[in-house]
Amino acid sequence: MKGAEMEVKVIVLCDNLAGPPSFKGEHGLSVLVDVEGKSFLWDCGQSDAVVHNARLAGVNLGKLEGVGISHGHYDHAGGLMEVMSASGPKKLFMHPKALEPKFAIAGNVKRFIGIPFRKDAIESVCASVELSSEAVEVMPGVRLTGEVPRVTDFEGFEANLFHQVEDEVQPDSFIDDQSLVVDTPEGAIVLTGCAHSGLVNILKHVLESSGRIKAVIGGTHLGMGASDRRISATLDFLEDVSPEKIVPCHCTGMNATMQMTRRFKDRVTPGQAGLVLSL
Ligand SMILES: [Fe+2]
Ligand SMILES: [Fe+2]
Repeated sequence: MKGAEMEVKVIVLCDNLAGPPSFKGEHGLSVLVDVEGKSFLWDCGQSDAVVHNARLAGVNLGKLEGVGISHGHYDHAGGLMEVMSASGPKKLFMHPKALEPKFAIAGNVKRFIGIPFRKDAIESVCASVELSSEAVEVMPGVRLTGEVPRVTDFEGFEANLFHQVEDEVQPDSFIDDQSLVVDTPEGAIVLTGCAHSGLVNILKHVLESSGRIKAVIGGTHLGMGASDRRISATLDFLEDVSPEKIVPCHCTGMNATMQMTRRFKDRVTPGQAGLVLSL
């Protein structure tokens, strides 16, 4: 199949920023990917904003082939029940450890930031729930990465983020953090969640199975205290990989987004709810 014949459309349905009139912004991410007329929802934001924005974007959630959750944080999974009640029962994909309790701890304040639904409640509204730590195809040509090996020395644990293993609260290694990959003849379109695994780790992992990276879309976790070293090493790697489109969303932060825009010029389109891209 020639590239020009393969149509991939991406619609940002939830982001920290909102674009067109009446779209809602919130701290969260949800991106719809449409490949040859079949659509898959990647993350659900944190509230009903995803359903509101989908309606404004003319997206029929009832036609989804399935839904994937990148990792077990409320800002990616909180809208799940709203999505399933709008779409009807759909297949759901995520890593089994996404269901662990997760916390942000700052000083004396411990805040629950995990998926705000019990497993049996999730199962009751989905057509099926596939919990897999391995790569899995979610619809033709679209797959979850599975667990991402950590190979860089500048991406890793975050001091304030924890998960609960049995009775013990430990620093979160984010083994549950996955990305979505659309394979095209011109390379992989990679949709990240928060990129807690590290964007460079994720792209290196995808490059093991795909010859090149065509586009990178989603959260990059370069905001909220990411070191200058991490930001510049990530941008250097992006320069080497040279995707034709970079869409920094959600937890990328203003600083890294501006650095990307200055460096990669019109190959960067900052994400916002309501953004529609044809790739
Ligand atoms: Fe997260
Ligand atoms: Fe996030």
